[in-house]
Amino acid sequence: MVYNICVIGGDGIGNDVIDAGLKLLSHVNLDFDYSYAEAGYDCYLKNGTSIPHKTIEACRNADATFFGAVSSPPDIPDYKSAIVTLRKELDLFVNVRPIKSLPVEISRPNIDIIIMRENTEGMYKGIEREENGVAIAERHISEKASRRIAEFTYKYARENNRKRVTVVHKANVLRKTCGLFRRTVLSVSEKFPDIETEEVIVDAMAMRLIKEPERFDVVVTTNLFGDILSDEASQLVGGLGIAPSGNIGEKTGLFEPVHGSAPKYAGKDIANPTATFLSAAMMLDFLGEKKEGDRIRNSIFKTFAEGKRTKDLGGNLGTLAFTEAVINNLE
Ligand code: NAI
Ligand code: MG
Repeated sequence: MVYNICVIGGDGIGNDVIDAGLKLLSHVNLDFDYSYAEAGYDCYLKNGTSIPHKTIEACRNADATFFGAVSSPPDIPDYKSAIVTLRKELDLFVNVRPIKSLPVEISRPNIDIIIMRENTEGMYKGIEREENGVAIAERHISEKASRRIAEFTYKYARENNRKRVTVVHKANVLRKTCGLFRRTVLSVSEKFPDIETEEVIVDAMAMRLIKEPERFDVVVTTNLFGDILSDEASQLVGGLGIAPSGNIGEKTGLFEPVHGSAPKYAGKDIANPTATFLSAAMMLDFLGEKKEGDRIRNSIFKTFAEGKRTKDLGGNLGTLAFTEAVINNLE
């Protein structure tokens, strides 16, 4: 079986970490047919669009997309974030963000959380306007999208032997939007009595993630809350350099590190490729190749256990040297 993978380096360190990721994938026991596509700010400067139609089609037709990161400059009016657009266009309705302790000094122990972030609507619907000195953003929460992510979350929990789902919302204030999300998830939870369900208000969740992250298992929430809480949670286990994600839809998936393009590190052999390696492992799981995904994860663990680290984790290895070390540890 040959897997068709669309590869998008994007901007800044997106290109560095995807190069490293492709090197690692060349040592996996699988065959890939790669197609390369453009997106992001460099693409905008070259083609006048941050996300060409051709790129969306290439991702749509691939078994999966392997994505680095893109810059989204805030000062260009009507600039479209390439990644937010791709998630919507490809209907990648859930963003799966695992936060798991690693054998590195700055990681707290015993953390194993999966954050399920709704990925197509909420505050990122992109409907904003300015009227008479007031800027207005529309927050769209639909029953359909809420039900879809809830069902995915509970099925995932059951299949992966997880015990508890925490529903994070702010329905005490955002009574309509969060109210609908909350009601829908709770109604789906009734079909899964084997899994405990609890609710936590988002601000309390931000606090409890620091106070007692060990007690959380699977977390399901809306788009903006999931974006913020997953960056926060990543810092508990090593920061953005190690946080992977999978954007999953019914037909295809897109796998990317949680971090952005960190322009100051671009092309300098500094970026930590671990988040991208773990995203590649998630991509292999998604393709049904969990054994190869585990090989990557085990190799990363072994490399950290040997004390090898990139600079963000207090070490002295560059992107390339760390990549070599992970490749050498593949069993
Ligand atoms: P960022 O994630 O690019 O970087 C924040 C800081 O985290 C960096 O300055 C660096 O210290 C550290 N960092 C991130 N990834 C790292 C890695 N692999 N290795 C070592 N250190 C790492 O976020 P920032 O600075 O807020 O945004 C930069 C650009 O990225 C913006 O244009 C933003 O729009 C875009 N962005 C894109 C995302 C995506 O493509 N999915 C996600 C987040 C931001
Ligand atoms: Mg983010």
